[in-house]
Amino acid sequence: MKLSINGEQRAFEGDTRTSLLDFLRRDCGLTGTKKGCDHGQCGACTVLINGVRINSCLTLAVMHDGDEITTIEGLGTMDQMHPLQAAFVSHDGYQCGYCTPGQICSAKAMLDELAGGWASFVSSDLEGEVRLTREEVAERMSGNICRCGAYPNIVDAILEVAE
Ligand code: FES
Repeated sequence: MKLSINGEQRAFEGDTRTSLLDFLRRDCGLTGTKKGCDHGQCGACTVLINGVRINSCLTLAVMHDGDEITTIEGLGTMDQMHPLQAAFVSHDGYQCGYCTPGQICSAKAMLDELAGGWASFVSSDLEGEVRLTREEVAERMSGNICRCGAYPNIVDAILEVAE
């Protein structure tokens, strides 16, 4: 079976109990995706599967034959950062940085969900205009834990890209 990882075809022939997270880190050398809890609690391992965010510790690599997997390495490079990566830098949206790849993958999926109409906004301002608020970003990003507590800056970074 094969998975498309950041646009490259990768064969998977290992133990069928291998999590997608372990396959990415150990077999593909894509260590940008982090292992925090390994139990679906922290969001550090968030990647995109066919554009949808998922905790890669909770799914098996063998379940993703033909799927398009995007990790933080597939979003941008040091020379050409994704707008979310650049915004996290300019807003200090991290301290230790361990959760950052998962935060950025999750934020990308969230913004894509809203832009694509797959999810609806729940907030509106006083004029009744529907828009993304700090509270809504915090709620939609609640699956990604930051032990350093950089949440205000993370929200700032996401809102900058959303506008
Ligand atoms: Fe997957 Fe924490 S490592 S949710």
